[in-house]
Amino acid sequence: MSVHSQVRRVTTHVLHEMKLRGEKIAMLTAYDYSMARILDGAGIDVILVGDSASNVMAGHETTVPITLNEMIYHAAGVVRGVKRALVVVDLPFGTYQGNSKEALASAIRILKETGAHAVKMEGGREILESVSRILSAGIPVMGHLGLTPQSIHKFGTYVVRAQEQDEARKLVEDAHLLEKTGVFGIVLEKIPAKLAEEVSTSLRIPIIGIGAGPDVDGQVLVLHDMLGITQEFSPRFLRRYHNLNQEIHGAVENYIVDVKRKDFPNEREQY
Ligand code: KIV
Repeated sequence: MSVHSQVRRVTTHVLHEMKLRGEKIAMLTAYDYSMARILDGAGIDVILVGDSASNVMAGHETTVPITLNEMIYHAAGVVRGVKRALVVVDLPFGTYQGNSKEALASAIRILKETGAHAVKMEGGREILESVSRILSAGIPVMGHLGLTPQSIHKFGTYVVRAQEQDEARKLVEDAHLLEKTGVFGIVLEKIPAKLAEEVSTSLRIPIIGIGAGPDVDGQVLVLHDMLGITQEFSPRFLRRYHNLNQEIHGAVENYIVDVKRKDFPNEREQY
């Protein structure tokens, strides 16, 4: 029997067990109670309250502007909708880089005020002190390497990362450093599939890919992208499982027509 079908609550230990058994981990983002309930009911292993909320919920161009209070608002709703999945919350830009005390204070606020189980942080060697301090308080941390959207103004573009040897070597070293420091897993975003495979096979912790090929321990997508709510974002790695944008558009058009022609509400829809 699979680990996935046996557990009543997904923990970081369950994810390690899944990696050991070669069972893939399914992870998606969510930002609110209603969606989180649907994902959890469908059996998702991990829900990420991603700072992609900055893009898909708030309409910002990047993930940079979202605040800790906003992340806490989203995460608290998600946690209320979840019975089984592990809930991981992104520490937003500016709340952990360069000051490990502030990083710990941010992570504590997330766990205390939302009930989430873990935090995710972007970066390698440059954030190790913050990672270590948060871990020492007993808060599980997930790493994030490769394309790290919080650094968009440094990189300048969202192209595939670590294609050059130097950057690839640094990424592998950072992944090992993060594992040694104690993170329970790492997200690898938009890097060559071969490099992701190398990281996954050389580390004991689960590696979750987004645009990192099939040979990692699990996959994550942004919910609004995979459901086809967002339309303008179409990277090669994105598989759309629905066209909700069109479905919602059609439903709203039908509603408008019904209201305008006084068809809604009818006799059965009133008191
Ligand atoms: O914020 C987010 O949604 C993420 C995923 C792309 C992994 O970090």
